[in-house]
Amino acid sequence: MKNQIEQLKKDKNAVVLAHYYAPAQVQEIADYIGDSFYLAKIAKQSKADIIVFCGVYFMGESAKVLNPDKKVLMPELTADCAMAHMVADGIIEEMRIKYDDLAVVCYINSTAALKCQSDVCVTSSNAVKIVKSLPNKNVFFIPDRNLGSFVAEQVPEKNIIINDGCCPVHAQITAEQLLSEKEKHPNAFVLSHPECDAEILKLSDYIGSTADIITYAKQNNANEFIICTEDGVNYKLITDNPDKKFYYPNPLPCCVDMKLNTLEAVLTVLQNEDKEVFVEDSVRKGAILPLEKMLELAK
Ligand code: 13P
Ligand code: SF4
Repeated sequence: MKNQIEQLKKDKNAVVLAHYYAPAQVQEIADYIGDSFYLAKIAKQSKADIIVFCGVYFMGESAKVLNPDKKVLMPELTADCAMAHMVADGIIEEMRIKYDDLAVVCYINSTAALKCQSDVCVTSSNAVKIVKSLPNKNVFFIPDRNLGSFVAEQVPEKNIIINDGCCPVHAQITAEQLLSEKEKHPNAFVLSHPECDAEILKLSDYIGSTADIITYAKQNNANEFIICTEDGVNYKLITDNPDKKFYYPNPLPCCVDMKLNTLEAVLTVLQNEDKEVFVEDSVRKGAILPLEKMLELAK
């Protein structure tokens, strides 16, 4: 399958982008692997005719918004991020009426329709920097309450109103599970994604996006790490650090939607070019503004 995929990529001038949570076999054949910010930048810069996005729907959708003339395919169009929809109807309008200088800051893990109602997008790797740089005092952070609270703590000079959404994969990690791993591995450093609950972040030695966690583990001299994020990062962690040990909370945090991006599905979509992402023009025009603002402010 890998050889067939390589051939099809060449024949069709296609590139494969994979998030760190995609299955290891798919990361092995990807042209670019990264966190959501890196992949959004790559999608914007790509010269390929076809982008195969191995992630969840909001990622493919953002790639299409940034590249309306390219064919954006996904191995499985039903791979969705539950958190991307967790903003109640009407709440953004309500907040805009309540605060006249409001900036609506939208975590990229959101639908294009929500991006259309927002002023700027952020990812977990640039949220603090971007929120700090905004001139507005009042910020409505959607959809993730955990990333929102983490940003609010780092940017105390702003009034950050936090929407009550969360990632079911990260929010299922409990302090009890983490403490049990810490007891088994007392010398391990705890590296956590900011989508985890505050009680996990308090017990962590380092908090960062998937890419930040991977970089930190490589650069740090410690030999053992407890990783509080989705288990897909393990492929890169063990490839980069064959002599280090990585432990995870039990049960293993796993995003079933990300795992729909199988090698077989990548091959099939490259052959058939059928699972294409389409974004209505009016939605695209609205969603591109906060995405481009993010790319600009994160520079
Ligand atoms: P990153 O921004 O770290 O890639 O996170 C994306 C994500 O979906 C985390 O659950
Ligand atoms: Fe969404 Fe959570 Fe899966 Fe990330 S891990 S894609 S936030 S459901």
